Amino acid sequence: MKIIMLGAPGAGKGTQAKLLAEKYQIPHISTGDIFRANIKQGTELGKKAKEYMDQGLLVPDELVVDLVVDRVAQDDCAGGYILDGFPRTIPQAEALDAALERSGEQIDRAVDVEVADEHIVSRMAGRRACVGCGATYHIQHNPTKEEGICDHCGETLILRDDDQPETVRKRLDVYHEQTQPLIDYYRAQGKLAEVDGAVPMDEVFDAIVRILGE
Ligand code: AP5
Repeated sequence: MKIIMLGAPGAGKGTQAKLLAEKYQIPHISTGDIFRANIKQGTELGKKAKEYMDQGLLVPDELVVDLVVDRVAQDDCAGGYILDGFPRTIPQAEALDAALERSGEQIDRAVDVEVADEHIVSRMAGRRACVGCGATYHIQHNPTKEEGICDHCGETLILRDDDQPETVRKRLDVYHEQTQPLIDYYRAQGKLAEVDGAVPMDEVFDAIVRILGE
């Protein structure tokens, strides 16, 4: 099962992708997480990506495409995977399709998690991310057992640099301009599934599983 998660920043793609990866026992591949890990490690890729991410802009396609194409060719992806945050532009989607086609494969479904812009800014202000394992929480909708401490690894939680309201607004603009066209791209391929992301997380999850199958 090869799945793409679509949706605005903060729509809940990462939350659902982690749950789906656990249910279907396939890797969760988040380009945002890959960049954040590189930033933490101080790699050249991380330094370049940070310049764009801190401004709410997309990292250039040439820094993303090969990275994902190589990742999905690894052995643990043979049974499928969930892509979260990729593709994000039409050229990224075309490059992915072309790479998969070369090995006789294709994406099965693109799931669009829909949340209106007005909910996003407040949702992001309440998000907390773990500096250790990357788990995400919400101070109201998905709190940790102990405030400010990750339930999974015990590390400290932070407000991501790009979750400041001004940067979130910029990310939303970039999403509408560059990423939303992917909805029509996958609709034209007959692969699009749309779910309401404004309802509680377990309801979003159930709706996606109904689409993908048990
Ligand atoms: P990335 O990390 O992918 O950020 P994003 O797409 O903006 O998505 P988010 O992680 O912010 O949100 P999400 O939809 O996963 O929501 P979440 O589940 O956390 O990318 C960051 C940056 O990296 C980009 O801006 C770009 O610069 C760069 N980048 C990454 N990929 C790239 C690519 N392919 N090309 C170019 N650049 C790239 O949920 C949000 C909050 O809401 C959480 O607190 C959660 O607990 C809560 N929540 C979730 N669901 C619900 C619900 N149903 N009800 C209430 N609260 C909920």
